[in-house]
Amino acid sequence: MKFLCLLCVFCLIPSLTPGSHIRIRNNGYELVVVAIHDSVKENAQMLTALKKIISDSSKVLYEATRHRAFFRKVFFLIPSTWSSSLADKDSTSVNLRDADVILSDPASVSRRSSPRTRSYAGCGHSGIHIQLRTDVLLNNNHPLIQHKPEKYMVHEFAKYWYGVFEEYPNPGENQFYFSTTFGRADPVRCSIGLIGRIMQKTSSGIQLCGYDSVDPETGEFPEGCVYYPYPSHNRGTASMMDHSYIQEIQDFCDDDHTQGHYSHNVEPPNRHNRLCSHRSTWDVISNTPDFQGNANPPTTLSDSQLAPQFIIFRAPSRRRRRLAVILDSPKEFHKRLRLHQAVDHFLGDGFDDDTKVAIIHDDVTNGRGTRMRGRRSATVKSSLQNLHDSVDPSALPSRIRAGIEVLKKKNSTKEGMEFHLILISCNNQTVLEEGNIQKMVDFGITPHFYNCEENRMKNIEETIKQQGGLVEIKSHRSIFSALQRLSEKLHGDEKNLSVQLVNENLELAGEGTHQTYLPVDESLHGELVVRLHYTTAPPSVSVIAPNGSACGYTATNHKLRYIKISSFVTENEHGKWSVAITNKTPYHESIHLLVVLKSQSTEDEVPIRTNAWVKVFHEHSPPRVGVYAEVMYGGHPVVNANVSAHVYHRERKVASLALRDTGGGFDIMKHDGIYSNSFTEMDAHGIHYVEVTVKDSLNNLEIHKTYEIPIPTEQDKGEPGHVPMPDYHTERVRLKHGLRRSTSTGQFHIDQRWDLVGNPDPYPPARVIDLQIDGVDRKERRVTLSWTAPGSNLDTGTASSYEIRYQTNGTALVHEPTAAWLVTDDMIVGTSGGPRGAGQTEHVTVQFPPSLKWVAVMLRAVDENNNKGEFSNMMTTFFEL
Ligand SMILES: *[C@@H]1O[C@H](CO)[C@@H](O)[C@H](O)[C@H]1NC(C)=O
Ligand SMILES: *[C@@H]1O[C@H](CO)[C@@H](O)[C@H](O)[C@H]1NC(C)=O
Ligand SMILES: *[C@@H]1O[C@H](CO)[C@@H](O)[C@H](O)[C@H]1NC(C)=O
Ligand SMILES: *[C@@H]1O[C@H](CO)[C@@H](O)[C@H](O)[C@H]1NC(C)=O
Ligand SMILES: *[C@@H]1O[C@H](CO)[C@@H](O)[C@H](O)[C@H]1NC(C)=O
Ligand SMILES: *[C@@H]1O[C@H](CO)[C@@H](O)[C@H](O)[C@H]1NC(C)=O
Repeated sequence: MKFLCLLCVFCLIPSLTPGSHIRIRNNGYELVVVAIHDSVKENAQMLTALKKIISDSSKVLYEATRHRAFFRKVFFLIPSTWSSSLADKDSTSVNLRDADVILSDPASVSRRSSPRTRSYAGCGHSGIHIQLRTDVLLNNNHPLIQHKPEKYMVHEFAKYWYGVFEEYPNPGENQFYFSTTFGRADPVRCSIGLIGRIMQKTSSGIQLCGYDSVDPETGEFPEGCVYYPYPSHNRGTASMMDHSYIQEIQDFCDDDHTQGHYSHNVEPPNRHNRLCSHRSTWDVISNTPDFQGNANPPTTLSDSQLAPQFIIFRAPSRRRRRLAVILDSPKEFHKRLRLHQAVDHFLGDGFDDDTKVAIIHDDVTNGRGTRMRGRRSATVKSSLQNLHDSVDPSALPSRIRAGIEVLKKKNSTKEGMEFHLILISCNNQTVLEEGNIQKMVDFGITPHFYNCEENRMKNIEETIKQQGGLVEIKSHRSIFSALQRLSEKLHGDEKNLSVQLVNENLELAGEGTHQTYLPVDESLHGELVVRLHYTTAPPSVSVIAPNGSACGYTATNHKLRYIKISSFVTENEHGKWSVAITNKTPYHESIHLLVVLKSQSTEDEVPIRTNAWVKVFHEHSPPRVGVYAEVMYGGHPVVNANVSAHVYHRERKVASLALRDTGGGFDIMKHDGIYSNSFTEMDAHGIHYVEVTVKDSLNNLEIHKTYEIPIPTEQDKGEPGHVPMPDYHTERVRLKHGLRRSTSTGQFHIDQRWDLVGNPDPYPPARVIDLQIDGVDRKERRVTLSWTAPGSNLDTGTASSYEIRYQTNGTALVHEPTAAWLVTDDMIVGTSGGPRGAGQTEHVTVQFPPSLKWVAVMLRAVDENNNKGEFSNMMTTFFEL
C-alpha cells in the first residue's frame, strides 16, 4: 500500500512545463525533488552532507519566511549507477527534468556552467530549477557559501520559487550607484544597515578606498575598489537575497520603517529592484500564492518538527516500457492516415527494444492486438496499416478497459517497469470514465491523452495531469508535434532522445517542387531520418549531403504512404544538407515533412536542444500570455537564434511572433538561451497552442559557455568574508553550419476572462526593465538614457510615446512617479523620432534644468489609445557634488 501511495504522490509531477510541482500544505513544502546528476560519482557521505544542508535550510527558511514555511518532504533522485543500498526505492516516475534542484559535477560537459537558478517569468513567479555544483555547495570556502551552505540554499530557493532576485551586484553590473539619500556613491546593497569596507587590492596589499578617493568628475571610486560587507557584527538582519552568508542575516528585506530596523533600500539598480519595480523582497514573497491573504499563517514549530522527511529514489538502469495504444481514428481518411503515420513514427523511431506495445484498434473482442509485442512486430505493423476499418466510437470504453487489462497482465515489480495507456482519439466526446481512471491509478498506469478536437475535457485534463500523464489537444495537422512531446515526456532526461529539426506541412501544386536547405550543426551525431508523409501519390525525393552526394537508404511504405530516407551523420557531414520534393502528378498533394536526428551522444557531446512553453499571467485582466522557447547546449545558452512562434487555434494560424533573447519586456534575462515574447492577438476563445521554429538566419549563432574564474588559493585563506564574489568568463563559440530545430508547446485556454469584443485595445505597452544611463555630460546636465522598446500591446507593435519622470529624491520617485517632474519635449536633445518598434534599443538624451545637483529617472511607454505601461526601473546620476 505504501508503494501505491508514493506512486500517486509522484504522479502529481507534471513535466515539460517548468515549475509548479512543489506544493505547500500547513506551512510545509512537499514534493521538493533534489536530483543528483549522472556526472556525480557515488558518494554516500555526500548524500549525508546534502541531507544536513537541507535540514538546516528548512530552519533558515522558516525564520526567513517569518515562521510560515519550511521543507517537510524532500525526494532525492540518485543516479542508476549508485548502489541500490543508498536508496529507499527504485523509481521510474521521477525524472531529472522534473527536479527542483539539480546537483552536478563541475566536470560534466552537459551541465558545466555557473551555478544558477533559471527564471523566465519575472518577479513573483517560479523559475525552472536550481542548478548547483558539487564544488560550490560542498566547499565551505567558496565565496557564495562561506560555511553557510544552508543559507545559500534558501537564497537560491527564494529566486527559484518566489521569483525574487539578487540584491548584490551581479557580474557585469556596477558595484556602486549614486544614492540620492546620501548625495554620494554608495555600494549596491539591500539595506543601508549592511555595513562593511570598500577595499582595493594593490601591489602593496589591501587598501581602504575612502570617500575622498571618489573622482569628482565621474563620481566613482578608483578602479578595483570593491565593497566587502562585514561577515559578522553587521546591522539589521536582512537580506537573504544579498550576501546571505553574513552572520546576522536571517530575513528578507521588508518595508518596516521602525527606528532601528533596517528596511529595503529602494534605490540601487540591482537585478531585484530592476525586475521587481523596486519592491522589497518580503513584499514580493508575502504576495505569492503561498502566503497571500492569510495562507499558511505563522506557526510555532520546534526544530524537530522542521526537520524534513527524506525519501531517496534511484533512477532505473534500464526502462522497460509497456505501452497500450488505443487508436480511435477519425472518420476522414486523410486525418486517419496522418494519425497512423504519426503513431508509426512514434513507435518505430522513438523507443528502444526494451519497449513493448499493444495496439488496440478495432474490434477488441476477437482478441487481436491485445498482447504485448515488439514495437516493430508484424502485428503492430498490420494494426497501423489497417486504415480501412471504420471505427465505432461507442466501443471506446471497452477498448480502454482492454488496454488496462493487457497492461495489468505484466509483472509490475521488475526494475524499470513502466505502464502507459495512450489514448489517441479524434472523436468529440468525453471518453475516460472515472472508474477507468481509478483502475489505472490503482495499478500504477499513467494515462496520456491526445485529442484532435476541442472537447469538454477540462476535468479529465486535470485528472490525467495529476496522474503524471500528458494531455495534448491539437488539431490533426499537429499530431506529429503532440506525439513528439509525448515521446520527450516518456524519455525524461535520456541522452539519446531524438532531436526534431523539421516538422512541417507542405501543400504541393501539381508538378510542383519544394526545396529545403537543412543545416546539420556540429552538435548532432547519429542517424538522420527524413520522413515524407504523402496523401495520394508518392512524390520523388532527393536528399543531398553537404559533399554533394545523394544520400542514404530509402524505403517506401505504400500502405501507410510514406518515404523514409536515413543516413548516418558523422563529423564531415555537418553542414548544409538539402531536401528536394517533387510532386510527379498534375494534382495537388498535401505532404508532411519530418526530419529528426536519432541522437547517439556521448558524455562529451550533447545536441543543442529546444523546448517551448506558454505561461498565462492571471494577475492581469485580461490575463497576459507569455510565450517562451529555450535553445540550450547542455547547460549553456545558444544566442542570436531566429526563433519564431506560430500560435494556432484548431487548424488556423492566429499569429506569428518573433521570440527574443535580447533582454527587455517579457525577456527578463538577456542571452540566457530563453527567448520570449507576449501573445496579444487573440481573436477567438478556446484551446490554442504554439509551434516554434528555430533557425539561424544571420549566420551568427553562438554558444555562450560561462565558467567561474577560480579564485587564487591565497585569498581563500584571507580574512573570512573578504573573498570577492565569484567572477565569470564567457567563451563564445560560433556555430559553423547554422541551426534548425522545431518544437511546440502544450495547449492553453483563452476563456471568458478574455473579453474579445468589448475592449479593442486591452493591452498597454510592457514594462521597461532595462533603463540604463549610457552617458552623462555633467557640465551641460545632459543624460543619455537607453532601454529596450516595448510595443503598443505589451511587446508587440510600436508604442506612441514615452512618459519620462524625474526627481531629486529617488525613494519619492519610486513611491509616487506621477507626482514627479515630467521631461517635456523641449528637454529632449536632438530629435528622438518617436518610439521604435518593440525589441529595438532606444537612445534618448535629456537636458535637465540647471538647478539640479542630481537626478533620479523613470519612464513608461504609452500607446495610441493612451494606455500606459507600468513604470520602468529607476536610475540615478549626479551633476555636481
Ligand atoms: C516479478 O518479478 C520479480 C523480479 O524480477 C520476481 O521476483 C517476481 O517473482 C515476479 N513475480 C511474478 C508474479 O512473476
Ligand atoms: C464538439 O462538442 C462541442 C461541445 O459539445 C461542440 O460545441 C462542438 O461543436 C463539437 N465539435 C464538432 C466538430 O462536432
Ligand atoms: C560524401 O560523403 C559520403 C558519406 O560520408 C561518402 O560515402 C561519399 O563518398 C562522399 N562523396 C564524395 C563525392 O566525396
Ligand atoms: C546512446 O548511443 C550510444 C551510441 O550508439 C550508445 O553507446 C549508448 O549506449 C546509448 N545510450 C543510451 C542510454 O541508450
Ligand atoms: C527570422 O526568420 C523569419 C522566417 O523564417 C524571417 O522572416 C525573419 O526576417 C528572420 N528574422 C531575422 C532577424 O533574421
Ligand atoms: C525622500 O522621500 C521619502 C518619501 O518618499 C522621504 O521619506 C525622505 O525623507 C525623502 N528624502 C529626502 C532626503 O528628502
